[in-house]
Amino acid sequence: MPLELVEERAAKLRAEIERHNHAYYVLDAPTIPDAEYDRLFRELQALEAEFPALQTSDSPTLRVGAPPLKEFPSVVHGVPMLSLNNAFAEAEVAAFDARVREGIELTSGEVDYAVEPKFDGLAISLTYRDGVFVRGATRGDGATGEEVTENLRTVRAIPLRLVGQGWPAELEVRGEVLMLKADFERLNAHQREKNEKEFANPRNAAAGSLRQLDSRITAGRPLSFFAYGVGVGANQLAARTQDEIMLRLAGWGFPVASERRVVSGVAGLMAYFAEVGNRRPSLPYDIDGVVYKVNRLAWQDQLGFVSRAPRFAIAHKFPAEEATTEVLAIDVQVGRTGAITPVARLKPVFVGGVTVTNATLHNEDEVRRKDVRVGDTVIVRRAGDVIPEVVAIVPEKRPMRSGRDLFELEPLHPCFILPAICPECGSAVEKPADEAIARCTGGLYCPAQRKQALWHFASRRAMDIEGLGDKLVEQLVDAGLVHTLADLYQLNLATLAGLERMGEKSAQNLLAAIEGSKNSTFARFIYALGIRNVGEATARDLARHFGNLEHLLAADEAALQQVPDVGPVVAASLLAFLHEPHNRSVIEKLLAAGVHWPQGEPETAGPRPLAGKTFVLTGTLPTLKRDDAKALIEAVGGKVAGSVSKKTDYVVAGEEAGSKLEKAQELGVAVIDEGQLMVLLAEIGAQNLMTRN
Ligand code: IVH
Repeated sequence: MPLELVEERAAKLRAEIERHNHAYYVLDAPTIPDAEYDRLFRELQALEAEFPALQTSDSPTLRVGAPPLKEFPSVVHGVPMLSLNNAFAEAEVAAFDARVREGIELTSGEVDYAVEPKFDGLAISLTYRDGVFVRGATRGDGATGEEVTENLRTVRAIPLRLVGQGWPAELEVRGEVLMLKADFERLNAHQREKNEKEFANPRNAAAGSLRQLDSRITAGRPLSFFAYGVGVGANQLAARTQDEIMLRLAGWGFPVASERRVVSGVAGLMAYFAEVGNRRPSLPYDIDGVVYKVNRLAWQDQLGFVSRAPRFAIAHKFPAEEATTEVLAIDVQVGRTGAITPVARLKPVFVGGVTVTNATLHNEDEVRRKDVRVGDTVIVRRAGDVIPEVVAIVPEKRPMRSGRDLFELEPLHPCFILPAICPECGSAVEKPADEAIARCTGGLYCPAQRKQALWHFASRRAMDIEGLGDKLVEQLVDAGLVHTLADLYQLNLATLAGLERMGEKSAQNLLAAIEGSKNSTFARFIYALGIRNVGEATARDLARHFGNLEHLLAADEAALQQVPDVGPVVAASLLAFLHEPHNRSVIEKLLAAGVHWPQGEPETAGPRPLAGKTFVLTGTLPTLKRDDAKALIEAVGGKVAGSVSKKTDYVVAGEEAGSKLEKAQELGVAVIDEGQLMVLLAEIGAQNLMTRN
C-alpha cells in the first residue's frame, strides 16, 4: 500500500476509535460491539508497528501505557488550582449567597448558580494545544503539581483530540479523575483473586492508580474523568456563564456530570442539595457534597478570591459519616511540635469508606468533657480525608462494677489522666494555662519529635527526599545516626547499607535523593524547617516577601507582620524558632552541606506605609482598572478587602457604586474617589510604583 494511503487509513482509524471511545466512556452509549472495536484497534496497532513514523501523540494506541518513568516532573500551573470553602448548614449557604450579593452589589432579584456534584476523586489539569492533549498534571499544592501525562492518556474518558471547533490554541481543562463504584468493586474482586491488596475505597484506588510511575499499570485500572472548569484559556472562550463553559466542554468531547444544573438563590441551592443527597446512593460515583458557582462569569471576576479560595464558589458538604465501636485503650501521641494528643485505640470499624482503628481525642479537656474511658462504646466520625474523631460515648454501654456500697455501681475504668512526662523521652509535659494543648518540653531531644521533624523535612512538599519514609527515619533515629536535620547530609553508603532491610542499591538511591534535595527553593526550605504555624502557603508568602534568608533572619515582629496572612501568632512562632541558637546552627549546617536555592530579592524593598490599612474598591473607577488599583495599594502594604466593615479604613468609590458605598456611609468609613487615592499614594511616595503598573 502506498504510504499516503496507509497514513489516510491510520488517521481514519484513529478518528473512528476515538469516536467509539467517546460513545462508550463519555456518552455511555456504545455504538459497536466490543469485538469490532478490538478489530479496529488491532488494525491501527499493526499499522503503527509497521510504520512507526505514522504514530501520532493523540493515537488511541498510546492509551495502553508507556515505559515507566523514574519520577514525575513538576509542573507549574498557569493559573493556580484553588480549593473551595466549605459550608455544612443552610445558614452557611445563606451567608455565602449574602456575601455574593454584597460583592456584586445586587440589591434585588436572585443570583443564578451553576451547581454540580462534588466528586470525591483527584483534581487534575489537562492541557490541549491546538486541540491535541499534550500534558496532564495533578493539582499538587495548587501552585505546582506533578506531570502525569502518560497516566492520564490511558483514561478512556479523556479526549486525546478535541472534537468540533472553536477552542483556544491553548486550553487547560480541569476536572476530577475518579473510579466508578462498580469499577472499584470489580477491581477489588480482581485483587482478591490475585491475592493482592484491596483498596479501601474508590478514591484511594483512583489516587493509587494515577500515581503509578509505570503507566501500563494505570492503563489496567478503570479510571474515569469528569470536567468541571477551565484554567488557562478561560477568557478566550467567549462564554458569558459557567453553564456555557460546561456546554462547550461537553461539545468538545469531555464528560460532564449529568446532574449539573443552574438554580436560583438560596432556595434553589437547598433544593438541589436535598435532591442530590437523596440520589447519592444510586449515583455511579462517590461524592462528598455539591458545588455552587456563581453562573455569570463577569460576577465571578468581580468577586475574585480570598486567600486560596474563590469568593464566587462554595462546596456544600454532606454530613460526615458515623459508626459505633469500642475503645480498647487510650494512648498519647507526640506530634512534630511536641503537642501531646490523646488517641483512642478502637476495635476496627468501617466508616466513611475506610476501616478506622484510631481516632483523635484532640486534647485532655476534650477527653474529660466527653468522659471517654477504656471499654466505652463510642460514636466515631470520619469526613473526607480528615482524621477520624470520637464524637461521644454511649453512656448506657459503659462497663460498670459494684462499688463500695453493694447497690451502687461505679465505672470499671478510671477517667483519663494526661501523663506528666512524655512517654517517648521522659521530659516534662507542660500545658500553658491559656492553651488546650499540652506539649512535651523535650524539643528535638525527644525522639518522637525528632522523627517527625525529619519525616516532615523529607516529605514531598518540603525537601522531597524520595525513599525517606517514616520507617527509615525511625531506624536512622533509633540507631543514633541522625540527630538533627543537618545530619541527613552526612550519611554515607557504609552506614546506610549497614541498616537492617537496606540493600546497597536502596542506600545508593537514598543518597542520590538526599543529594538531589540540596537543589531546592526558598519556600520549600522554610516549610521544611517545620516551624510551628508555618504551613506551605505561609512559607511561600515568606519566601516571596523576603526573597532571601538574610532578610528573613533579620526580620523583627513588625517586618514579619507585613507578610500577607502573618499575624502576631505566626510572627511569634517564627521569631521563637529563628532565634533559637540550636535552630540557627542547624540552618547554618544545612547551608554548609550544600542546600541551596535561587536567590531572590525582597518583593518590595521600599517602605510599606499603608501596612495595616484596609481598602474596599467599589463601582467603576474613571481610569484605573480594579486590579491595578489593588496592586498599587498592596505594593505599599495596604490590604484590599471585598466587603465593608468597621475595620475598613477607606472605601474607594467610582461610578455606580452601590451598597458598599451605602454601608461605608452608614458605618462612617472614609470614602474617597480615584483622584484622592492617587493623592494619598503620591503623598506617601508611591508614585514611582504607578509607572510600573
Ligand atoms: S470547582 C476554584 N467543581 O474540590 C475552585 N471542584 O475544594 C474550582 N471538586 O480539589 C473547583 N468536584 O478537585 C469544583 N464539581 C466540582 C468539583 C470540585 C470536586 C474538588 C476539586 C478541588 C476541590 C476544591
